[in-house]
Amino acid sequence: MNNRVVRRGGSILKHCGEGQVADLVNLTRHLVRHGIVTPPASPAIDPHMIEFPYVEGVGGLEFVLANGMQGLRELLCSIARFHEAPPPIGVSVFDPFKMIRQRIPLSHDKRIIELAEILRFSLPVNRPRCLLHGDLHVGQFLIDKSEKIWIIDLEDTALGPREADLGNFAAHLATRVETRKSPCLVDNFSFWLDAVLSAYMLDTPKVDGPLAMEYARIALLRRTLKLNELGEPSLLNQMLKRSPADFAVFSPG
Ligand SMILES: Nc1ncnc2c1ncn2[C@@H]1O[C@H](COP(=O)(O)OP(=O)(O)O)[C@@H](O)[C@H]1O
Ligand SMILES: [Mg+2]
Repeated sequence: MNNRVVRRGGSILKHCGEGQVADLVNLTRHLVRHGIVTPPASPAIDPHMIEFPYVEGVGGLEFVLANGMQGLRELLCSIARFHEAPPPIGVSVFDPFKMIRQRIPLSHDKRIIELAEILRFSLPVNRPRCLLHGDLHVGQFLIDKSEKIWIIDLEDTALGPREADLGNFAAHLATRVETRKSPCLVDNFSFWLDAVLSAYMLDTPKVDGPLAMEYARIALLRRTLKLNELGEPSLLNQMLKRSPADFAVFSPG
């Protein structure tokens, strides 16, 4: 839990923009009707809050740490089902640079702008779209006592290529302290991107590996900028010292 979210008995109350409440209520109910396991949102008394049923369980990070690759596979299997759900009307198109653009004015570093441009130009224009979580990482899952996997935090849901969710998921795992395999960012990136794509592809072969890598590199820049803002500059420094091609090592099985 964090400062946007509080528990009140059997409910979770979360701060959100007044204009977002109706969209989230409609979205979560639409997904539940299509068999997606997510807590259905309701309007709260306060118009700046939204209410969800409280799900008793462990988070996705703890689940992956306890269950290793099998745990990773189960989370990705539930996200593969999410990707197959019919998108509701009015979902916006995913913009992988949204959070990067917001952070660049703070950074004052022209190498960051150059890197963002290189990454933007390597992204192919025509990409197949499905329903995306839009901010996918292990912290967006709750696993209850019956091992049912709940997907939460659907405020960034968008239309885009599934590889965008997979790249974000891998970039998070590569940069979290708890899941780092080595002090070297490139090694962590290769390990987790390979693991995530291999696990997802066991159920759903429809993945474009090179496209996932492009999105993962963009997500990695976003993550390292965020960690830098939080006082951890070492990953951003590693990212800027390397050429984007250094992050190209992967071979999903
Ligand atoms: N329905 C829920 N049941 C139990 N815990 C929840 C629920 N929704 C959120 N949480 C807890 O609050 C945390 C933050 O919620 P989340 O919706 O992901 O907000 P944020 O947008 O701040 O990431 C989650 O990681 C989880 O621990
Ligand atoms: Mg969250």
